Amino acid sequence: MIDTHSHILPELDDGCETIEQSMNFIAQAINQGVRVMFATPHCCDGVYDCTKKEILAAWRFLCETVERQGLDIQILPGAEIRVNHDLVARYDAGDLLTLGDTSRFLLLELPPMFIMNAFLRMVRQLTERGIIPIIAHAERNPMIIARPELAAELISTGAEIQITAGSLKGDFGRAPRKTAKILVQNNQVFCLGSDIHPGRKYRMKAAEKFLNKAGSIVQTEKIVQKNPEKILKECVDQFIYDTLIVE
Ligand SMILES: [Fe+2]
Repeated sequence: MIDTHSHILPELDDGCETIEQSMNFIAQAINQGVRVMFATPHCCDGVYDCTKKEILAAWRFLCETVERQGLDIQILPGAEIRVNHDLVARYDAGDLLTLGDTSRFLLLELPPMFIMNAFLRMVRQLTERGIIPIIAHAERNPMIIARPELAAELISTGAEIQITAGSLKGDFGRAPRKTAKILVQNNQVFCLGSDIHPGRKYRMKAAEKFLNKAGSIVQTEKIVQKNPEKILKECVDQFIYDTLIVE
């Protein structure tokens, strides 16, 4: 499985506070069958604004620890980018980290309330630049909960939908659970993320089981593996990555 959303980089946002906490979540991920994890700290959200440089430095430190312990998992860098009016300008300025840094996939977090037409315009502007926006935990957004049909519009404009593993188990309440199920039933979910933070349960295995029961094994495979592999294919291996970084 591929976990496309996590807060495992230590000391950057409201995610892991220590490397021990990071390693604990990584051990849980491995036990649950996860072999690739994207580390996606908060960016541009008004509280946390991790820079590319900070994220890549924390990511390298974590990768070194994982490598030293000989763990069978690949960690890739990324960011969960809050959508603001200056999203496209910040992308153009080179401030925003795509998943893996080299892929076209940009993980976006919508604010609780947003103007759909203005956001669709941003999606179009990003797709014109070759970017594929992924909407993080769409099932937890109040506007998408109220109108799940917005998902179809987002997808037809060029965005993809990500849901949080724990939402399928009711960790975020009934409404996100219901919305997540609707998105799965409508075959609108591109990928799954743990969105793991301290205090939350790591739910990738439980979510996989839920998906297998609720839908088809083929659809589950797409959500947990095949679609995220499309992101992975555009990511450079961590060992050759260092030679490509221009500080
Ligand atoms: Fe997150």
